[in-house]
Amino acid sequence: MKVTIVWNERYTSDEYVYGTEPNAFLAENAKLLKGPVLSLAEGEGRNAVFLASLGLDVLGVDGSEVGLAKAQRLAASKGVTIRTEVVDLASYQPPENAFGAVVSISAHLPRAIRRRLHGLVERALKPGGIILLEAYTKAQLARNTGGPKDPDMLMSAAALEKEFPNCEPMVSQEIEREVVEGQFHTGLASVVQFLARKIS
Ligand SMILES: C[S@@+](CC[C@H](N)C(=O)[O-])C[C@H]1O[C@@H](n2cnc3c(N)ncnc32)[C@H](O)[C@@H]1O
Repeated sequence: MKVTIVWNERYTSDEYVYGTEPNAFLAENAKLLKGPVLSLAEGEGRNAVFLASLGLDVLGVDGSEVGLAKAQRLAASKGVTIRTEVVDLASYQPPENAFGAVVSISAHLPRAIRRRLHGLVERALKPGGIILLEAYTKAQLARNTGGPKDPDMLMSAAALEKEFPNCEPMVSQEIEREVVEGQFHTGLASVVQFLARKIS
C-alpha cells in the first residue's frame, strides 16, 4: 500500500509527530464512550492510550506498522494495555455489533473509501454506541496548519450526517479551533466535529 510507505516514513523518528496527548474533542467527550472502542487510523497511539488510561478496552487500527509499534511503546510507557492491528481501511471489515464506540480522529481517506468504511462502522456499533469523529473541512485548504490538500479527503457535517443515517447527532458542527497536536497539526484550523449515537 503506497500510503503506508508515506506514513511509515513520517513515523520513523522517535518523536511523536502528533504528540502524546489525546485529541481535544475526544478528551472533552470521553466520558460518553463505552468499550470496546475501535479507534480508526490510530497512528502513534495517543488517543488509544488515553482511552485505555480511563479503563476502556481499545482496539487501534492503522495501515502503518511503524505507527502502531510506537503506539504499543507509548502504552507500555504509561503502564496501560491497548490492542492494535495493522489494516488497510480501504478493505477493512470490522465485526458487526461489536463496539460501544468508534473513534476517528484525522482519518482522512478518499471519499469512496470513507463512505464504504462509515457504512461498516455504523454496523460495527452496538445499539446506543457512539461515533466520535474530528476531521478537517474544505475550509482548511486555505490554511497551512495541517491536513491533506486533496478536497476529496476532507469532510463536512452534512456528508457525515448522510454517512451515518442510523445515528442521532449530539454534535455535528464545522468550527475553527486552535489545534496543538504535534508538529503537523498546529495552529488555527477548520474542522468538523461529529458525535452521534446509534439508534438501533
Ligand atoms: C493524520 S494521521 C492521524 C493519526 C491519529 N488518528 C492521531 O490523531 O494522532 C492519519 C493516519 O491515517 C492512517 N491511514 C491513512 N490511510 C490509511 C489506510 N488506507 N488504511 C489504514 N490507515 C490509514 C495513517 O497511517 C495515519 O496513521
